[in-house]
Amino acid sequence: MYQKIVVLTGAGISAESGLRTFRDQNGLWEDHHIEDVATPEGYMRNPELVESFYNDRWRQLQVPEVKPNAAHEALAKLEQAFAGDFLLVTQNVDNLHERAGNHKLLHMHGELSKGRCPRSGQIFRLHEPFGPDNCCTCCIPAQRLRPHIVWFGEIPIGMDRIHDALEECDLFIAIGTSGTVYPAAGFVDIANHHGALSVEVNLTPKERHSLFHLHYEGKASEIMPSLVDKILSGSLFT
Ligand code: APR
Repeated sequence: MYQKIVVLTGAGISAESGLRTFRDQNGLWEDHHIEDVATPEGYMRNPELVESFYNDRWRQLQVPEVKPNAAHEALAKLEQAFAGDFLLVTQNVDNLHERAGNHKLLHMHGELSKGRCPRSGQIFRLHEPFGPDNCCTCCIPAQRLRPHIVWFGEIPIGMDRIHDALEECDLFIAIGTSGTVYPAAGFVDIANHHGALSVEVNLTPKERHSLFHLHYEGKASEIMPSLVDKILSGSLFT
């Protein structure tokens, strides 16, 4: 039976909830340049363009049809039923894991539903779209809130906690991520190096496919419910 589980999720786990991934067909990076909407330089150059990109994605989260799918719900069940240490690290900035019921959750790339004061770093829950009038309440003069998103070139959130968990875990599961963006793409190396069993759940084999001990190919919403039952019953290899 496993003692410590770390799960990493990527955009693929939210695809069946209606949220676009980044690098699949019709992915976000097909009609947006990363350097324009996902870098500090892009924000300095054209804050309105960046705000529009995140405002659109934030509004989409509020559409009733966008809700947790069976894969999110399976991970909430795993956290709730698993007696050992559990940490869900997500690269996603949506709120579907929280809405499914996960609490031992770390958003390493930030969250769409929050804004950040560029001067103090204080984080605010978003109640209105980003714009010139959506300002912090911690500074005088008030500062225009920026998306609480980790852009390319910025430091991901919670890396010390993530590293500690990866070094101690005996089961590492990567779900719906292309394994193309570091440091998340390197988590499997750390887990493997410390003796964990590593499992990949994806539609198709990805770049770092060969590093995983077990592979489940298909839709996360179809794979995760039975995979969680196998983990909880200690029958992952049957
Ligand atoms: N079930 C399982 N896997 C899926 C599904 C599904 N229903 N749909 C898509 N996938 C897989 C794709 O095969 C792909 O490997 O999800 C992965 C999505 O890859 P990306 O679009 O690259 O998303 P992600 O890996 O989360 O990107 C990592 O890159 O742009 C940055 O900050 C952004 O957090 C993001 C990071």
